[in-house]
Amino acid sequence: MIINNNKIALLPFADIHTHVLPGIDDGAYNSEEAEHLLDLLLHEGVHQLCFTPHYYAFDESIDQFLARRDQSYKKIKNQALKRQQKTILGCEIYLCEELFAYDDLVRLTYGDTPYVLLEFPYRPMDHSTLDLLEEFCRRYDVQPILAHIDRFALFFNTTLRDYCRALGCLFQINLDVFTAGRKAQRQALQLIQQGEIDFLGTDCHNVTWRSPVIQEHLQDIASTGLEFEIKKIYERTVQLLDFL
Ligand SMILES: [Fe+2]
Repeated sequence: MIINNNKIALLPFADIHTHVLPGIDDGAYNSEEAEHLLDLLLHEGVHQLCFTPHYYAFDESIDQFLARRDQSYKKIKNQALKRQQKTILGCEIYLCEELFAYDDLVRLTYGDTPYVLLEFPYRPMDHSTLDLLEEFCRRYDVQPILAHIDRFALFFNTTLRDYCRALGCLFQINLDVFTAGRKAQRQALQLIQQGEIDFLGTDCHNVTWRSPVIQEHLQDIASTGLEFEIKKIYERTVQLLDFL
């Protein structure tokens, strides 16, 4: 544990995966809940965060989604500013064939960066998933950050991770992997130590379901000797996503 002047020092963290935007997906229900989430994040030392509502191409067009996202963002933007939290707009793109109706996905990146948060389909990873990923990478001039890889087979499978890396993918894990049992914890620590985890996120949805717990997990990671790695991930995150 890191203690300065009898106070536990907060470890640096920029949250690249949140569902704070109100009334747009299964995250914050309304502005009040979104503000509550901003407060919880602030309490956990978060001054930089990305809004990443779900985007399902089979449900709506990109235009429709972005119009809804703008409306939602207007409701919370000033509240984040008041709390001196820098925010970046992005989304969590569900990997599906319907995406391929679009020539480019530039409007879905994090801010003006080339990065997108990409979520695998909700099914066991198989050839059809990998074919979709390969097609996605071939078609679009964006760099995918694979969301919460701790939920998928590639978390434990080096060959699959190497395959995704070769396609240009980066990896994000959710901090709540540290509540998922010893095997998952050990694997997460090992991957962080090996420099295989590019980004951390909370994937926070609301104040009761997956509310943001950050410092407790960061302190646990640091206590295994990986404080430097946490700082490295943070510094790289703010640089790559243009928080500076
Ligand atoms: Fe998410």
